[in-house]
Amino acid sequence: MKKQTLLLFPILLIAIFLYGFKKFVIDEQKTHLATNLDIRVEQKVDSVLALMHLNEKIGQLVQYSGKWNATGPSSSNGDQHKLNKLKNGEVGSMLNITSVESTRETQKIVMENSRLKIPLIFGYDVIHGYKTIFPIPLGESASWDLDIIKKTASIAAKEAAASGIQWTFAPMIDVSRDARWGRIMEGAGEDTYLNAVIGVARVQGFQGDDLSKSNTIAACAKHFAGYGFAEAGRDYNTVNIGEYELHNAILPPFKAAAEAGVATFMNSFNEIDGIPSTGNKMLQRDILKGDWGWNGFVVSDWGSIGELIAHGYAKDKKQAAEIALNAGSDMDMESYAYEAHLETLLKEKKISLAQLDDAVKRILRLKFNLGLFDDPYKYCDEAREKNNVYTKEHLAIARDAAKKSIVLLKNETKLLPFSKNLKSIAVIGPLADDKDAPLGNWRAKGEYNSSMSLLEGVKSAVGKNTKIYYEKGGDLTMPTIKPGDNQFLYPLRFNTTDVSGIPAAVEAAKKGEVVLLAIGEDAFQTGEGRSQTNIGFFGVQQQLLEAVYKVNKNVVIVLMNGRPMDISWAANNVPTILECWFLGSESGNAMADVLFGDYNPSGKLPVSFPHNVGQEPLYYNQKNTGRPYSPSHVTYSGYTDAPKTALYPFGFGLSYTTFEYKNLKLDKNTISKTEEIKLSVEVSNTGTRDGEEVVQLYIRDLVGSLTRPVKELKGFQKTMIKAGETKTIYFAVNADMLQFYTINKKWEVELGDFNVWVGGDSNAPLKASFSVTE
Ligand code: NOJ
Repeated sequence: MKKQTLLLFPILLIAIFLYGFKKFVIDEQKTHLATNLDIRVEQKVDSVLALMHLNEKIGQLVQYSGKWNATGPSSSNGDQHKLNKLKNGEVGSMLNITSVESTRETQKIVMENSRLKIPLIFGYDVIHGYKTIFPIPLGESASWDLDIIKKTASIAAKEAAASGIQWTFAPMIDVSRDARWGRIMEGAGEDTYLNAVIGVARVQGFQGDDLSKSNTIAACAKHFAGYGFAEAGRDYNTVNIGEYELHNAILPPFKAAAEAGVATFMNSFNEIDGIPSTGNKMLQRDILKGDWGWNGFVVSDWGSIGELIAHGYAKDKKQAAEIALNAGSDMDMESYAYEAHLETLLKEKKISLAQLDDAVKRILRLKFNLGLFDDPYKYCDEAREKNNVYTKEHLAIARDAAKKSIVLLKNETKLLPFSKNLKSIAVIGPLADDKDAPLGNWRAKGEYNSSMSLLEGVKSAVGKNTKIYYEKGGDLTMPTIKPGDNQFLYPLRFNTTDVSGIPAAVEAAKKGEVVLLAIGEDAFQTGEGRSQTNIGFFGVQQQLLEAVYKVNKNVVIVLMNGRPMDISWAANNVPTILECWFLGSESGNAMADVLFGDYNPSGKLPVSFPHNVGQEPLYYNQKNTGRPYSPSHVTYSGYTDAPKTALYPFGFGLSYTTFEYKNLKLDKNTISKTEEIKLSVEVSNTGTRDGEEVVQLYIRDLVGSLTRPVKELKGFQKTMIKAGETKTIYFAVNADMLQFYTINKKWEVELGDFNVWVGGDSNAPLKASFSVTE
């Protein structure tokens, strides 16, 4: 053998070794990637865990709420306890501490006193904006515009992160079918698919593509699970649904969020079928962390571990802690159950060290991913806080999101859009010049009275020659929240009967060429603990409406509200209704954009509007039942005094132009389970204005191993169509749209016949059929 060859051999051996080693590392990384784990982070997590004492491990599972600011906690006992725990490194997270100054001071307590200096993570309810307030989530969902939804979440993250926050308790992706439930305002409404895609857009917006960036924050999919199905719409109430309904109607948005990499989950206050979620092992350990292989951590809802006692599921806090940890609740928000009992429970072998370590690792993992171990003060930058919050650019995005969220419910006489040269406009109603209500509930740091009112928006839109007559006409029944008020403790007052403002409002209405009547709800009629049995107009609003309409038929009702309301009288009598939800900081400007035609409304309802409250819970994707309506049947699964269908159905919303759907075509009518159908439909803009349309696709599986809903939304596309233009819209109908959680307890496509509809709302008339065969 030549000398050179001999020399090459060891080099080759080294190369092979190096290749093998590299391959091993890459394979390792791939394995971890498959479960979303980064091997480098895992090594760091393990090395920190190895250093931790038991009290420090338990401490990571503790989350406190703090109200103090830079001057530190007050000397009350509770705060002193928290302070001591922080110093000992026995707290993992704080919520409700905001601002760079306050978060830095709090972080410092840990950094300067604790043994291991494990940084805190600061959480806050950044639900629809931080200081720049966007439409309430239900309203924004009416945009069906995933780009703008993602954008507003990213701005909310940017502002929150600039103020020291790293974690938001959002998005809420509870499917909510009951208008009585006050928290319906916080989610994407009644549909499972819509909640899933909007939830994912929000997660992506908050988290961006990299959690370690200083302008992204961790998201939290909540409330896991079933919270929106509370019986009778009463917040926190019992949920009784079957396993199949849970899987088919409630869990898909959560699965989608988990797959999108949401960093955390929050469990829910309710029980399902006798098991409170906080103590539900099947939900948290078996499904979420088991079947779905999700690696984030679950935070309890506020005090929900302690509430296992009130539920009658634990006899005391110790047992509550045992149940919750075993069930997979990783972090204890304000129950003080883990800090008090986990150590003893471990000694008594009622919980295992492996499960405790697993919970700690999940929390540390996020802290590493956020970059907090690299720099615990990374989110504490005064300059960013000053320059990145409530900026002009953010307000412009708020206006864009707000106008896209408006839904035109009725425009029978084509009163809208108004000309900007109207001689006079009467702007009337308790909400007409309200600068606070449009911020809605859960407004984070949105400042009191900081929104643009309708009156202000109208004034800045019209020319000098338009005379404006403003009259309040009466108070909203709820007293307005003042800065510093605790909205949860605020007394509700439902009985305002003062009609003294109505005559002046009537006079103003007489003078106006047109009338804008701003009525609806106060911001705090919806939100947590705000369930109502009356979903109509409180106080004297109905009288005001009737009195105004009597003297001027050119009335536009500008509705502001957080839930679907009973607006039957208005719908039957008044020709023009604009649904404006609570639109946030730029509310008045956005309304004016639509009222004066600068923006052609494109929103569609994410919830059904009922004829009356007795229809609730009301949702379009009901089951057919054994007695659907038939003219030959005297009795059917409806009512004798009201229709069973909605006043305004899910997916509904008008435009200033009109759209016509035709030529629904399928490229085949029979497919196997793995094939797909190419569906096309022509949508024409038959009016004289350009406009956006939300083309919606619904599917029904006609016969199943379980009964299936009469139709279900399975896809949509929001698209701009120019006046006179016809666009062909394509959908791929595939297994994702056809499968459901079947009698076999699996997601499967079943063989058989299907109907598909395409149109501009859930009553879409264009229909085709196809079959899935072997
Ligand atoms: C209770 C609510 O249910 C939850 O959504 C919220 O995130 C927490 N409180 C923290 O404020």
